[in-house]
Amino acid sequence: MISLLPQKIKKTVEMNLFEFIPNDKVSSQNPSEKPEIVTPEQLNTFSKIDALDFKLSQYFNNKFIVQRSLTRQLVSFQANKMIASYRWYKYKEAFSAPLVGYLLSRYGIESGKVLDPFAGSGTTLFAASAAGMGVDGIELLPIGEQIIAARLCLEREFTVDDFADIKRWLKKCPWKQSNERYPLQKLRITDGAYSPETSDAIERYMGAMQKENERVRLILRFALLCIMESISYTRKDGQYLRWDYRSGRRKGGKTFNKGEILNFDEAICAKIEEILHDMKLVSGHLEKHDQGNIHLFKGSCLDIMPELSCDSYNAIVTSPPYCNRYDYTRTYALELALLGVNEKELINLRQQMLSCTVENRAKDLLAINPQWAKAVEAADQQELLQAILHYLEDQKAQGKLNNSGIPRMVRGYFYEMACIIAECSRVMKQNAYMFMVNDNVRYAGASVSVDMILSSIAQKLGLQVENILVLPNGKGNSSQQMGEHGRDSLRKCVYIWRKA
Ligand SMILES: C[S@@+](CC[C@H](N)C(=O)[O-])C[C@H]1O[C@@H](n2cnc3c(N)ncnc32)[C@H](O)[C@@H]1O
Repeated sequence: MISLLPQKIKKTVEMNLFEFIPNDKVSSQNPSEKPEIVTPEQLNTFSKIDALDFKLSQYFNNKFIVQRSLTRQLVSFQANKMIASYRWYKYKEAFSAPLVGYLLSRYGIESGKVLDPFAGSGTTLFAASAAGMGVDGIELLPIGEQIIAARLCLEREFTVDDFADIKRWLKKCPWKQSNERYPLQKLRITDGAYSPETSDAIERYMGAMQKENERVRLILRFALLCIMESISYTRKDGQYLRWDYRSGRRKGGKTFNKGEILNFDEAICAKIEEILHDMKLVSGHLEKHDQGNIHLFKGSCLDIMPELSCDSYNAIVTSPPYCNRYDYTRTYALELALLGVNEKELINLRQQMLSCTVENRAKDLLAINPQWAKAVEAADQQELLQAILHYLEDQKAQGKLNNSGIPRMVRGYFYEMACIIAECSRVMKQNAYMFMVNDNVRYAGASVSVDMILSSIAQKLGLQVENILVLPNGKGNSSQQMGEHGRDSLRKCVYIWRKA
């Protein structure tokens, strides 16, 4: 591990001007909003943001560590692709089970209870449980809930007869002969996502499923959820679903070709086979290990966390949505439609999510929980955050943002995160660790140091910043290179906080 100063080299204000010229070299998953020319007023604000960013980086100077063992593969879903059970549903925003295992063992967390307030596909839940710990998760979207429910059912409730039923489905493909059809929920944003033959096959598959018991139905529906993108004309693309030219829909460009669109029968049989194959491994694994209890709360962590008891968790391992405009309710729309979510429910889910899209309206946090006054105050007093918000509002007023919802989204993101951090701090035991995976972002040319802003807020809310582990960024992360690239690199980090 090498300790270094992030963005340490600050040259003159003139140099900073050049650092903000639009054609910077940063490649990021985050859409950057770049001004075409830099005005004197912008320069002033940039200088202020820059100075505050520098001040904060000086303050956290000895906390930053570039950790080579934290590869992108480990911190993303990639490392799960080869692991039985984790590989079934490719939840692209997931982190990996080995990352959770690494953090728990590296920081000596061996017993007690773990929490993940943004459980997603349940990586923390299953990895911490496999390490023998009890785990609670909170997840808002029904797709995450289904992935977790299906895995729990397969690993803990499935009977020999249930397995025989699934094998029968693989052998006999009952949907091919079925006349029962279960109509697919139609959503405006998913209309026309499948060819007529695929739609028909899905409806017959769902129809035939209704004859099975609840557990078998859950697993058959899960297998279908796992393949929906691959049999559709769409591809998940962060902010929305991208449409293949064969769909006849225009969004995503007339020329987008997603490549092979899988045949329903082949794709579903391959997925069922994969699940059956892994279950053999998992049942072998289960016999050898004591697994901790898993409990999933369904809903928004903003509503659920205040209900949790104080001082009850030995660790929190989590990754919230990033402040990057990714809209899970759009990218997971096929799956949500299959799960019966209607238009109104979809909009409600979008609004309940942590503010990370330009469509999120401001949430009245103090009306949700008056106890959050201190968290709101911590965000109010975070100088760098306030300078960034001021700049973005100013850019909006000048009509320079390509979407006027950006300032509201960034504000909502940090204020809501402040409240969630306050809750995490409250429910953690003394000396417990909190690990958070998150990315920095950039809007209108201004870098938003999410890592330092959230760490500074966390400190106001009873958590000590032990380290901010930085992923090596491909360009090389030696102190010298970090200095040279300075503002170019949008850090991807794992924050290590501890309840003081
Ligand atoms: C980065 S993903 C977490 C992925 C997870 N670590 C995994 O390995 O699968 C963030 C998750 O937060 C969920 N989420 C967003 N807003 C939420 C809220 N208000 N309450 C609970 N979950 C929320 C999203 O649905 C998404 O699944």
